[in-house]
Amino acid sequence: MRVLGIESSCDETSVACADAEGIRSNLVSSQVDLHAPFGGVVPEIASRAHLTNAIPVLDAALAEAGWELKEIDAVAATAGPGLIGAVLAGLCCAKALAWSLDRPFVGVHHIEGHILANDIEEPMHLPAVVLVVSGGHTETLLVEEVGTYYRLGCTRDDAAGETFDKSAQLLGLGYPGGPQIQRVAKGGDPLRFPLPRALMAAGDLDFSFSGLKTAVRLTAEKLPRPLLEADVADLAAALEEAVVEVLLRKTERAIEAMRERRLRGLYLAGGVAANASLRRGFLDLAARTGLHFRPPSLAYCTDNAAMIAWAGRHRLLLRGGDPLDLRAFARAPLESWTARP
Ligand code: KG4
Ligand code: ZN
Repeated sequence: MRVLGIESSCDETSVACADAEGIRSNLVSSQVDLHAPFGGVVPEIASRAHLTNAIPVLDAALAEAGWELKEIDAVAATAGPGLIGAVLAGLCCAKALAWSLDRPFVGVHHIEGHILANDIEEPMHLPAVVLVVSGGHTETLLVEEVGTYYRLGCTRDDAAGETFDKSAQLLGLGYPGGPQIQRVAKGGDPLRFPLPRALMAAGDLDFSFSGLKTAVRLTAEKLPRPLLEADVADLAAALEEAVVEVLLRKTERAIEAMRERRLRGLYLAGGVAANASLRRGFLDLAARTGLHFRPPSLAYCTDNAAMIAWAGRHRLLLRGGDPLDLRAFARAPLESWTARP
């Protein structure tokens, strides 16, 4: 089955082609340059850019796969969560294609896409615990089997990626912040500025990063202006260490809480999964817990349509397509949305 996938939930317009063998093409048109002057994604600009980019990216993805439009068997697109105008741009495009080609259409939950990105290069070892960590999400889930997910812990305020993005903006490092924080943290001393770790009481699986973000701001405000390169590097190193330590501790707790489920795998998903220190920590955690872990390919960490085409393929094979009046949504937990009839 040849599935075309479309992803447009935030600031990347992406189209991918997938079949039983894997991903044939995965093109991403980034809008980073459009949003960078504003220090973050401007929803209206994102929606308009998706409209302009969708067809050229679609044509390029088909050409790279060597497919013609009429050879597509199904069309998948992100239905949410995300910026609603941005989601609608890709979703409407997918529905129109499916309708005009008379092929099935399937809506994909963006988080299921991130999780199943781990299934593209080898079948996932399930049941598994997965940490989804991106600009909009930070949560641990139990993946019992493909299509069956239970949330274990979730952020009560900011996502980890958002904490990196906002702190990077404050430190004058530009957008998106995660890769910049990682870059400058390399030369920094993580011990110079003590930063808080929230909700660390035993058994607590939730996350909270807003206090950490405020602590970065208060620490930076106490330093003489302009900030020295060493100040920025030390603060970035302290921030990266605090975020990674919390993510690892909470994931380890989620694994302990799920021990009786006979776990086989441990997975990492979402844009922050590109972070080198977090990936190293996961390799170590997997070795200590005896769980299978393979760091996800960088191209499948940040937003991309390969993961949407792959998740759409799974969903079509498991449960069939969706009606063309499936609604776009800005927010909805993965487990209730994927369990829809
Ligand atoms: O999954 P994604 O592309 O979009 C959302 O669904 O939110 O994730 C984007 C997030 C941004 O917050 C970005 O700063 C972060 O992923 N990110 C990183 C790295 N690369 C991207 N964070 C830390 N280290 C990185 N290397
Ligand atoms: Zn994402």
